[in-house]
Amino acid sequence: MRHLSDIKIVKKYMKTPNIPQNAPYTDTQRAWIGGFFAGMHSHILLSSNLIDQTDARVINILYGTQTGNSESFANDAATIAKTHGLLPVVKSMDETEADALAQMEYLMIITSTYGEGEMPDNAQMLWDSVSADSAPSMDKIKFSVLALGDSSYDLFCQAGIEWDSRLAELGAKRLYDRVNCDVGHDEDAENWISSVIPMMAEGAAVTLVADAKGSSEKAKYNRKNPFASKMTVNRLLTSEKSSKETRHYEFSLEGSGLTYEAGDALNVIPQNCPELVASIVRAISCTGNEDEPVNGEQMSLSDALHSHFEIKLPSKELLQEIANRSGDQQLNGLLDSGDKANLAKYLWGRDILDLLLQFPNIEFSAAEFLALLKPLQPRAYSISSSGKMHPDSVHLTVASVRYNAHNREHKGVCSTFMADLVDNNTRVNIFFAPNKSFRVPEDNTLPIIMVGPGTGIAPFRAFLQEREFRKASGKNWLLFGDRNEATDYIYRDEIEAMQKKGVLHRLDLAFSRDQEEKIYVQDRMLENGAEMFSWLEQGASFFVCGDATYMAKDVDKALHAIIEKHGNKTAEQATDYVNQLKKEKRYVRDVY
Ligand SMILES: Cc1cc2nc3c(=O)[nH]c(=O)nc-3n(C[C@H](O)[C@H](O)[C@H](O)COP(=O)(O)OP(=O)(O)OC[C@H]3O[C@@H](n4cnc5c(N)ncnc54)[C@H](O)[C@@H]3O)c2cc1C
Ligand SMILES: NC(=O)c1ccc[n+]([C@@H]2O[C@H](COP(=O)([O-])OP(=O)(O)OC[C@H]3O[C@@H](n4cnc5c(N)ncnc54)[C@H](OP(=O)(O)O)[C@@H]3O)[C@@H](O)[C@H]2O)c1
Ligand SMILES: Cc1cc2nc3c(=O)[nH]c(=O)nc-3n(C[C@H](O)[C@H](O)[C@H](O)COP(=O)(O)O)c2cc1C
Repeated sequence: MRHLSDIKIVKKYMKTPNIPQNAPYTDTQRAWIGGFFAGMHSHILLSSNLIDQTDARVINILYGTQTGNSESFANDAATIAKTHGLLPVVKSMDETEADALAQMEYLMIITSTYGEGEMPDNAQMLWDSVSADSAPSMDKIKFSVLALGDSSYDLFCQAGIEWDSRLAELGAKRLYDRVNCDVGHDEDAENWISSVIPMMAEGAAVTLVADAKGSSEKAKYNRKNPFASKMTVNRLLTSEKSSKETRHYEFSLEGSGLTYEAGDALNVIPQNCPELVASIVRAISCTGNEDEPVNGEQMSLSDALHSHFEIKLPSKELLQEIANRSGDQQLNGLLDSGDKANLAKYLWGRDILDLLLQFPNIEFSAAEFLALLKPLQPRAYSISSSGKMHPDSVHLTVASVRYNAHNREHKGVCSTFMADLVDNNTRVNIFFAPNKSFRVPEDNTLPIIMVGPGTGIAPFRAFLQEREFRKASGKNWLLFGDRNEATDYIYRDEIEAMQKKGVLHRLDLAFSRDQEEKIYVQDRMLENGAEMFSWLEQGASFFVCGDATYMAKDVDKALHAIIEKHGNKTAEQATDYVNQLKKEKRYVRDVY
């Protein structure tokens, strides 16, 4: 998530002035634009007197997002569009219908990919209409797509790829080729914006559009300039006897000036475990002292591995190189066959060190090895506190990833960095990822239903604090579950206190392993379907947080079943009902 001042944004995106010779500019306008490029950025951006929007060309910037990255780029694109005399209209995809889309002339699509090559939640409905046989012609549109994704997923940038090809199929004209932007490669998105906007501006009458808003609203800390925070609390939430480990963390915001909302996420920039670094250095027969350039700085191989590179999950490039150098039949067979399911099975629980130990005869120079690694990425965590209740700190609820595989103990990079490696002298680099769609309703009288098993409870602890702080009269229903009540009922004291105070009106618990048959939160939903439907009819919002792969899908099925049964609806009518909830932002998910 990136937040820069408007002026910084303009400087970053402006490469060379691109004033088309045939553009109908007056001499004054040309001179003005020249002046702008010569360094008048701040004047233009901060002077709202220049606004004359009557003739400005409208550029529609639609974003599909789960955690706000696309939205952030959409806003950057809008800032740049204004400096080109364009009138940007930024909208979330769920604020747009297919028919309205078909009437747009200039369109920038920015979308991430979620699940396994799926649309982010707020893009799904529009995509359903656009991908349907009945979709209207899009031949009025001139467009370009920025696809955000993560190349460690099989279906890299799939949602953007599908938008790009479907728009063209429906007759839209591609003004600029799609760019696939991998995590940590913001410069690709920035280059896309600075290339596409001038093309969208070609031939437009220049209208000076300025907007003083924005710079003051943008956060001063971001991925490139994180806040170095002190961890003030690291508390085990699950019992020592539990089969899992979930921890509560608090980070100080003192001196940062940072604020956040319940529903936002926090990005944590981890450091790798020094023991893992040492084992990898040994496995590639290096010393660790090799002096290497990293992001324009010289540093030792060990320091580079400790702070700058992903050293747990192998990149595709490293995997291929290990296959080439080892000549191993199984690995080469899996890579050559394109059998993704079996490759994923092979890789499950196998990290870089496992692969190096498996093929001990392969040697890499320090430079070769670093070139095959991906940059170390921040990890996102749903914030479990309300910024109003806790303005000076931010709380997280994190499951420590620890498992045994290939005769070694394995540890998740970030979850165990926080659990094991942060001491009083360590500052943890953090930055916020606002999630504007995952919010407690502004209307304090409306009910909310929160489904959050496991660490999915995190944002709902924040929501309950928020409702308490606001003295909201609306009813709150929490559905929580985990493995065993005796060991995994996290925040039990707080939850029971919330019930006593009258903040939590309804609580349903599902402990999956306390009996032979698994009981999950969706079973509790189905048992209480009539009441749940009645809450929805009273205007309740339905929130889901936690596991995306299984839980969120099963909860979605249960929601459909409840609406069908208790609303006396057909399956299609239930889907329409659910779509309406999504449109009204009353069915929102924070799943991972
Ligand atoms: C928006 C968002 C919000 C999130 N909120 C939370 C939250 O509130 N709390 C929370 O705990 N997490 C949350 N997460 C997940 C979090 O970001 C990290 O993915 C998680 O902490 C794991 O990161 P890690 O660095 O510890 O593990 P990594 O180093 O990234 O390792 C994880 C990998 O280890 C492997 N692995 C894990 N378990 C096993 C196993 N049993 N057997 C074999 N292999 C295994 C898998 O390959 C897995 O991908 C959220 C994610 C997102 C995107
Ligand atoms: N390696 C570890 O030790 C370890 C430990 C905890 C979590 N994790 C990982 O950390 C992440 C977060 O964990 P978490 O605490 O949020 O959740 P979690 O431990 O994965 O699960 C929380 C609860 O949800 C249940 N559940 C499983 N499948 C479900 C489904 N389809 N529908 C509804 N509920 C379902 C679980 O039951 P059952 O598990 O009984 O089926 C458990 O009771 C997950 O990705 C998990 O894989 C790893
Ligand atoms: C649960 C989850 C699933 C994801 N699935 C994919 C995927 O299938 N393909 C892909 O290219 N990226 C995938 N990503 C990466 C996101 O698209 C990427 O982080 C993007 O920058 C998020 O942007 P957003 O904040 O606008 O949603 C996934 C991320 C998460 C957390």
